[in-house]
Amino acid sequence: MSEMFSALLTTEQAGQYQTALVQRRLDELPPGEVLIRVQWSSMNYKDALSASGNKGVTRQYPHTPGIDAAGQVVSDDSGTFAEGTAVLVTGYDLGMNTAGGYGEYIRVPAGWVVRLPDTLDVREAMLLGTAGLTAGLCVQALLDSGVTPEDGEVLVTGATGGVGSLSVALLAHLGFSVVAATGKDDAHDWLKALGAASCVGREALADAGRPMLKPRWAGAVDTLGGEPLASVIKSTAYGGSVACCGLAASTDLPLSVFPFILRNVRLLGVDSVEQPLAAKAAIWQRLATDWRLPQLEQVLAEEVSLQALPGWFERILAGGVRGRVLVRVSG
Ligand SMILES: NC(=O)c1ccc[n+]([C@@H]2O[C@H](COP(=O)([O-])OP(=O)(O)OC[C@H]3O[C@@H](n4cnc5c(N)ncnc54)[C@H](OP(=O)(O)O)[C@@H]3O)[C@@H](O)[C@H]2O)c1
Repeated sequence: MSEMFSALLTTEQAGQYQTALVQRRLDELPPGEVLIRVQWSSMNYKDALSASGNKGVTRQYPHTPGIDAAGQVVSDDSGTFAEGTAVLVTGYDLGMNTAGGYGEYIRVPAGWVVRLPDTLDVREAMLLGTAGLTAGLCVQALLDSGVTPEDGEVLVTGATGGVGSLSVALLAHLGFSVVAATGKDDAHDWLKALGAASCVGREALADAGRPMLKPRWAGAVDTLGGEPLASVIKSTAYGGSVACCGLAASTDLPLSVFPFILRNVRLLGVDSVEQPLAAKAAIWQRLATDWRLPQLEQVLAEEVSLQALPGWFERILAGGVRGRVLVRVSG
């Protein structure tokens, strides 16, 4: 088949990266078992990195970014999915070095594809996207480590970001008293509407280099890394846990061992990309049922077309997006 379809394509010219809408042929897609017509995608921090030439994310250009995709199965050589099945793909190599969700079609291995739970539609799935899956994995990690709403307040850093806002909403939905840490002073009401009990500014995460801080948090979801994460760990109460999933501030972690050996604090690493498919599907099932968020629509920052999306990449890299940017890929 050499049918044409619309896709964003990031190209490199003299070290500069540009992303534009182009026409591609189906036979230009990589080999794979499942051909999917993509209806919705979303914008994540990592997509903006891919579209701006970050070689840690994407090695070769021209390239179609988009680490998230949801739509309908067109054909499946593995025999796992019937034509028309509603599915989603997040992570693995999608949008990194495999043409991603910012095109009307993707072709991927069957082992990357999650059947959409009945109670979640394709648009809702992408309003959640990798950010929602990651928030879900962080919350699951905190629950598995024994943190309960009765233990006290939980903190979410980078709270207006995709992972942050969905973590706030999910933890609040599960009955936790959530403190949202944000650099956006004008976003406190928005965060409270999502379920935050209170908000603190980024300055609350500075620690002046002290080895330990007053214990406050029963648990935390950290999307920032660096000094903010170190400060969160130092402020975690005895036996508490911190889920670490991001690096929006820094990849460093300037910390001593004291919080671990004196307060029994646990640091939980969370990756959403290479999780086994069954683990991803289990979180999606929860997000569609007992974790289904009544306030999900409130995390929508903007619904954009493929054509309009490149205008958003710089904003997310600068930490300037509040909530989730949903991408309408095809009708
Ligand atoms: N482990 C995984 O599988 C996984 C999956 C998804 C994302 N991530 C990572 O998680 C992080 C968040 O991703 P996202 O898609 O939610 O991004 P996002 O929507 O851009 O959210 C990041 C938020 O962090 C805050 N922030 C940004 N720059 C900062 C800085 N220099 N110092 C302090 N705060 C800063 C901002 O929130 P406020 O203004 O509210 O403070 C910003 O909105 C990224 O590092 C991403 O790579 C990891």
